[in-house]
Amino acid sequence: MLEINQALINALKKCRRLMIFTGAGVSAESGIRTFRDEMDGLWKEYSVEDVVSIEGYRRNPELVWRWHEWFKEVAHKAKPNPAHRAIAAVSELVPQLDVVTQNIDGLHQRAGSKNVILLHGDINRIKCSRCNYETDEWEKSEKQLKCPKCGAGLRHDIVWFGEQLPEDALTYAMHAATTDDVVIAIGTSSVVYPAAQIPFLAKQSGARVVVVNPDDTPLTQIADDFIKATAGVALPELFKQTWGTQFEKFYEQTPAG
Ligand code: OAD
Ligand code: ZN
Repeated sequence: MLEINQALINALKKCRRLMIFTGAGVSAESGIRTFRDEMDGLWKEYSVEDVVSIEGYRRNPELVWRWHEWFKEVAHKAKPNPAHRAIAAVSELVPQLDVVTQNIDGLHQRAGSKNVILLHGDINRIKCSRCNYETDEWEKSEKQLKCPKCGAGLRHDIVWFGEQLPEDALTYAMHAATTDDVVIAIGTSSVVYPAAQIPFLAKQSGARVVVVNPDDTPLTQIADDFIKATAGVALPELFKQTWGTQFEKFYEQTPAG
């Protein structure tokens, strides 16, 4: 059994507004590799910057398109893991839950989390690289599709390095960081800004900051609690120790994919 500080359990029990802030590590146990791991098989020779950056897109839009189509397929085949499911269940147990994610895989939504704040976009949408056309319905294609309105290349609606985050999502998350009582940051290397700033801002604003990660990150240094374990093990255990059978009841009802 994971040893959890009683003060954390008490803080969660009386928490009115909780933020769950996630990165790629929350989906590792669903079989999706994290960004700072080496890329999979056919993508081994490329770096993240080649496929998720504005410069990469300018150099080779077809490659960037293919990578996103591949990632979309990986995400669709993956299933929500116990961490995604535990997070969805907790929305029934706290007055307000903010799920803020850097992930583009859609697994929080598929586990039943509502109103997920997507800081880095959505792999299930494409948009025009020039005009305002966008859609979430298209045929999988190895070749980059063209905009039916203006003929420019279509691209996935993902925030790449060198691009701004969606203003609504960032504003919401920054505001929530200043009002949440507890922030649990899960599976993030905490090096990609501005997203990485959110838990630090929460700490400055007086929130209790909890880190769940098998490794140290820059955030560990300021965390009130560091649960050094994988997300799929730590979260169901943390919430079970906090809310007992009430949590287990909602957890059992969450879709496992
Ligand atoms: P990273 O790949 O940078 O970091 C993943 C983190 O998850 C690391 O700190 C790992 O130690 C941790 N980790 C690995 N397995 C875990 C597990 N089973 N349970 C919990 N933690 C685990 O991913 P992010 O921090 O999400 O941007 O990266 C931030 C952004 O950089 C991504 O959103 C992406 C990327 O480029 C875009 O796609 C725009
Ligand atoms: Zn267009």
